[in-house]
Amino acid sequence: MSRLYIFDTTLRDGEQSLGITLNVNEKLEIARQLVKLGVDIIEAGFPASSPGDMDSVKTIAREVKGVIICGLTRAKEHDIDLCAEALRGAEQPRIHTGIGVSPQHMEKKLRLSPEQVVETAVAAVKHAKKYVSDVEFFAEDAFRSDHSFLVKVLDKVIEAGATVINIPDTVGYATPWEYGEMISYVINNVKNIERVVVSVHCHNDLGMATANSLAGIKAGACQVEGTINGIGERAGNTSLEEVIMAIYTQRGRYGVKTGINTREISATSRLVSQITGVPVPVHKAIVGANAFMHASGIHQDGVLKDKQVYEIIEPEIVGVPKNIIALSARSGRHALKHRLEELGYKLEQERLETVYQAFLQLADRKKEILDQDLHALMGDTAVKSSKIILKNIAVTTTGTSMATATVTINMDGNTCTDAACGNGPVDAVFNAVNRLVGEKVYLENYNLKSVSGSSEALGEATVKIRHSDTGVVIGRGISTDIIEASAKAYINALAKIKTN
Ligand code: KIV
Ligand code: ZN
Repeated sequence: MSRLYIFDTTLRDGEQSLGITLNVNEKLEIARQLVKLGVDIIEAGFPASSPGDMDSVKTIAREVKGVIICGLTRAKEHDIDLCAEALRGAEQPRIHTGIGVSPQHMEKKLRLSPEQVVETAVAAVKHAKKYVSDVEFFAEDAFRSDHSFLVKVLDKVIEAGATVINIPDTVGYATPWEYGEMISYVINNVKNIERVVVSVHCHNDLGMATANSLAGIKAGACQVEGTINGIGERAGNTSLEEVIMAIYTQRGRYGVKTGINTREISATSRLVSQITGVPVPVHKAIVGANAFMHASGIHQDGVLKDKQVYEIIEPEIVGVPKNIIALSARSGRHALKHRLEELGYKLEQERLETVYQAFLQLADRKKEILDQDLHALMGDTAVKSSKIILKNIAVTTTGTSMATATVTINMDGNTCTDAACGNGPVDAVFNAVNRLVGEKVYLENYNLKSVSGSSEALGEATVKIRHSDTGVVIGRGISTDIIEASAKAYINALAKIKTN
């Protein structure tokens, strides 16, 4: 079996598309989890795109070891210089440079002739080689290119020193058989192709990113690019967890193996969702909340007789452990710690105590604490060190939609209270918090969902707010009281702006 390299671009193609500015610490946390997951390459960002991206790539390059750290550039000297600088601290740096090769890109976007595109591509690879030995070249929109021209470009960039050749379906237009044929065509026609790694990079516009990537792998590609939960431009990128598990469950079909620790898949998915604020659909393959649930009577009867009747993956393999202990207000620290460890959380004594106290408060309001509650609790206790803490809320509604909220917070050690009216209780609370915090922000999105199914379930609120300096930030809050959850989420986002 040959090795399939897993190239994660959650922090570049995934983040770039969301209009969300993840801060350096958030990106670092995701990068560290990706190392635990066992990816081979982390594309940490596009340093020339903003000072924030530059800083994130620099920090990840310096702090995250044991994995290749990659930065994206256009085929421009200035981009490549900045990327090289950002990667200076990396143990294994890679520059990922490239240019559009389809008629649409060359004529409309770049306004360059095919000859100029070849020259620019070669010059970019040669320039990147001055800094690092590992240079990946992307032929943007390769699928819609003239494939004989694509071969010509790839011949030249390999001659110029490229070590990895990325052949993207940038607009998600291919079908699996066509994408597989393109990869075979490249492998059979590009000179010295055996010297380089061939990489597949697909987008999901027609819902075929995973299938196309697998077709490319079957045709001989030995690197696959994608994101966790499939987040990314428009309809998203290839979901890495789907490709990884397709290969794991059907090893014989592909003849390749990955270095992934599949038991970290669920924790990685959750972390990316929490940090980016992009929810995972319940029916999402591998990581959706329902991915391993059997609902209908016939299916339940089947799995009770033998799991294999309706299950192709044991949930434990992707890090969703079986639960044999029911957690409630009577549970002690030991039981809580045990379950959290099974769910992938390793806690220091001090953090365990904080989480245990939050657990007891929740257990007083809710009979049984489910895994989803524990995940929400872990996310919530992680933001407790915020500069702004919600102390109290009182809301009165007048029977119509108008409401008044009185909110007390502690900000930088000072306790203060203010009140405001609003169009409903959530609006009133947000207005009162705005008066207290004094930042000018625009609410881009507010989302409230129940963490589990019952009427006593935890409510989980997510807000996205835009600030003129910081850009878009996300805040999360949980509580069995949905107004409190909303206030916590809003305050959490404002606290991030204050600390930036
Ligand atoms: O989709 C694409 O073509 C890309 C390249 C920039 C690698 O993301
Ligand atoms: Zn892409």
